[in-house]
Formats: sequence, structure tokens, C-alpha cells
Amino acid sequence: MVKCCDLIPVACDHAGFELKEYLKKALTEKGFEIIDMGTYSSESVDYPDFVHPLAKAVNDCIYKFGIVICGTANGVSMVANKYSNVRCAICWNEEIARLAKNHNNANIIALPARFVTKEEALKIFDSYFNAVFEGGRHQRRIEKIPIK
Ligand code: RB5
Repeated sequence: MVKCCDLIPVACDHAGFELKEYLKKALTEKGFEIIDMGTYSSESVDYPDFVHPLAKAVNDCIYKFGIVICGTANGVSMVANKYSNVRCAICWNEEIARLAKNHNNANIIALPARFVTKEEALKIFDSYFNAVFEGGRHQRRIEKIPIK
């Protein structure tokens, strides 16, 4: 069985840049290893340019899971969910994040930088990370997600 690696890739657009920088520092301090896949400033960019490489890497099991950030989380999640092995969940509070793992086994979380504080975003990450996929009926359901 292929083992995806534990490094955590993070990608964002300009709206997510500040939050990415904050999370990078906060998560590094907690002992996680972060791979910064851009963007690297608050200059306006197109989110697909940064999310495609991250989502492809998760899709190909280079990384176990990743974080994508834009203003609303909608754009980045739309891109990520084009990949058949990706289950990207928009997470705007801790409970949604927990359920995204418990029920959907999400392998990318999308954070809406304009609608959560930095502190909330960190708690959302923790909640997702510490949750466990419940399997069972949820496994059956996620197997039905990809278009065959
Ligand atoms: C950028 O202004 C904004 O449109 C983008 O961050 C995102 O929210 C798109 O879905």
C-alpha cells in the first residue's frame, strides 16, 4: 500500500495570504512540517494557479492532506474537487471541520479567510486534524462520490 507523506501543503490566493502566513507559523510551532505552495504576497492572483498543484499532489498521494485558502473558500474548493481522489470540505467552524473528517474523510480543508479569524482557523485545523474517520456507512458513501 502506498504511503502518502505527512508534510502539510498549504496554498492560497491573495485573499488567503495573511491567513496562510499565520497558519504556517502557528502550525510549524506546533511541530507540523508545512510546504508553502504559494501565493507569496497579497498581490492579486488567480486561485486555480495555486490550488491545482496542491490538489494534484494530494490526488496522487504525495501528501495525505492539505489546506487551501481563499476569501470565501468556494473557489479553492471548486478547483480541488475536480480531482477524483480529492474530497475538499469548506470548513468555517470546528464542528464542520470535525464532521468533514468523521463522515467525509476530507483530505483537503478549504478555509474562508474573509469569514473566520486567524484564531478560529487554527482551531478549525486542530478539530479536523484530531478527528477520526468513522468508516462503515461513510466509507460506502465516499466510494460513491467519484464519477465512474
Ligand atoms: C478574491 O477576491 C476572491 O474572489 C477569492 O479569494 C475567492 O473568494 C473566490 O472564490
